[in-house]
Amino acid sequence: MANEAEQHGIIEISGYPYLGLPHDPEPPDSESRRRFLKWISLAVGGLGATAVGVPVVAFILRPLFTKKERTWRQVGAVDTFKVGTTTKVTYADAAPVAWTGISGRTAAWLRRDSTDTFTAYSINCSHLGCPVRWLPDAELFMCPCHGGVYYKDGTVAAGPPPQQLTKYPTRVSGDQVEILTSPIPVT
Ligand code: FES
Repeated sequence: MANEAEQHGIIEISGYPYLGLPHDPEPPDSESRRRFLKWISLAVGGLGATAVGVPVVAFILRPLFTKKERTWRQVGAVDTFKVGTTTKVTYADAAPVAWTGISGRTAAWLRRDSTDTFTAYSINCSHLGCPVRWLPDAELFMCPCHGGVYYKDGTVAAGPPPQQLTKYPTRVSGDQVEILTSPIPVT
């Protein structure tokens, strides 16, 4: 005698669950198997996400926990700077990485105060980091982004900068002026 599925023209295929009729109760082991597969999927997905996510997050956060390099950089021969002048100098960033390319270079403003003393100012505005310009006639540093103004000694004259320009230590080594670099200050 034909069973109910056969009476409705449904053929059961070996290895696949019998779909049954709308009013059929589910086989008792179907729910537990579904739950088991769901947990397997979650576990495999979680492992995959961890395997991919941990290295990415570590790469992004590493700079926050890496000790910042400070390095003396040569910025030019002493004789190339006239006493009383302020000159833009460029040099390799404090902690360049292999892929930085041209962005691995940074700059500072270097004033020759006397025959043997120099002062170096960060080129980055203390507000949001825009590069400041030196106006020799006015003897002021101007920030083009939001109108920040600094006196020639780096102290704030006007605008939104919350503090003076960062100063870098300088020294003369042989015939070269050197700046002790540090990562771009962020305020
Ligand atoms: S970044 Fe210089 S004033 Fe805002």
